[in-house]
Amino acid sequence: MNVRALAAKVLNQVVEQGQSLSQALPAAQKELNPKDKALLQMLCYGVLRTLPRLDFFCRSLMKKPLKGKQRAMHFLILVGFYQLLYTRVPSHAAVGETVNATKALKAPGLKGMVNGVLRSFLREQESLIEKADQQDTLKYCHPGWLVKRLQKAYGEVKAAEIMTENNQQAPMWLRVNNLHHTRAEYTALLNKNELASINAIDAENKNALRLEKATDVYKLPGFEDGWVSVQDGAAQLAAHYLGAKEGDLILDACAAPGGKTVHTLELQPKIKQMVAVDADDKRLIRVQENLDRLKLQATVIHGDASKPNDWWSGDQFDRILCDAPCSATGVIRRHPDIRWLRRDSDITELVNLQKSILNALWDKLKPGGILLYATCSILPDENELQVKSFLESRSDATLIALSEQYNNESQGRQLLPNEDAMDGFYYAKLQKAK
Ligand SMILES: C[S@@+](CC[C@H](N)C(=O)[O-])C[C@H]1O[C@@H](n2cnc3c(N)ncnc32)[C@H](O)[C@@H]1O
Repeated sequence: MNVRALAAKVLNQVVEQGQSLSQALPAAQKELNPKDKALLQMLCYGVLRTLPRLDFFCRSLMKKPLKGKQRAMHFLILVGFYQLLYTRVPSHAAVGETVNATKALKAPGLKGMVNGVLRSFLREQESLIEKADQQDTLKYCHPGWLVKRLQKAYGEVKAAEIMTENNQQAPMWLRVNNLHHTRAEYTALLNKNELASINAIDAENKNALRLEKATDVYKLPGFEDGWVSVQDGAAQLAAHYLGAKEGDLILDACAAPGGKTVHTLELQPKIKQMVAVDADDKRLIRVQENLDRLKLQATVIHGDASKPNDWWSGDQFDRILCDAPCSATGVIRRHPDIRWLRRDSDITELVNLQKSILNALWDKLKPGGILLYATCSILPDENELQVKSFLESRSDATLIALSEQYNNESQGRQLLPNEDAMDGFYYAKLQKAK
């Protein structure tokens, strides 16, 4: 099928039908050649990064919005605007190819209309852009509720910086499996394959490097043999901060797809047992796939972390990783659809779920044991305020230093999107009294 028409379909599925891009895009890419796959991805990511702005242009140029069955055509017009504004596709080709795609969407009757709107845009774009830049939601392409929350948390200037970073493309980070190679050895292998890389800045993030240019995982030396995995640098800090020791009984309570489970095992293969729990049975398949590829062992359980009595074996854990379900506002660079799929009211629900998971897990931690609380959120309600309220309610909980290097004991660590090119993440390490 025509790639632009496919992009319009995927965008309709995500924005109108609430499907996640990570589901809708791979399904649409299945039968495409690599070049068209990349083009489809670029168009879908690009339109989702700039959605309200493109919507505004469309509203300004059309008398009536396209509704119902014609909605895919609306997204085709946005695909057209996106190419005209943000890509190097020459204007005549962008208009021509987009107009051609009307056939594939079985709406040849709308060909003239699409042509007309795109050509009007070419004539009026300067004044439309000027108008769009006067509103924060259109300027930064974030929903109003999120703009407000970020401005409240970080102030206007910092919030603007964060939103600008959210609209950039995220780099491809790798985690070198230290059971096979040091990072320096693996870097040499990458160099041999003409893949340039940069190490993470944090000295303790010693398995992390990012590629200068993203590549297919199968082009990475030893990927299928478990020499390396794809994982953002910020996510890799979890296993270092958890600090598993020989003989530990460890719980990874919200484990899927298992990136932090396997990294913990790579760093300390001599633990007593790793229990990996997740509430989503489909995502748990990915945990097992990761364990298999890396030839590591864990007890994988389908269960609810807020109700551990349904699955707990009765032995308290030495260490617990609580990588809680969250707004994912720290990873908008990677998932540009998140901001349109989430609602402001989701945040309160998530905060309540995190609270109940945290409280339930605390009872399963040994006296003297350690719980690492993590989210890929940048909203204080899910992070430092969540931890503050937990500490106020539990006299046996103390916030401790995350590591020798990151040893500010009075607070956790809030990483913002693109700090050292990493995702936004939050970490806090809690110790239970002996
Ligand atoms: C941030 S993701 C975890 C990422 C994972 N730790 C990794 O590094 O690959 C949060 C996970 O929490 C799971 N989840 C949501 N609610 C849960 C619950 N009540 N109990 C257990 N897992 C839950 C989701 O299915 C999701 O896989």
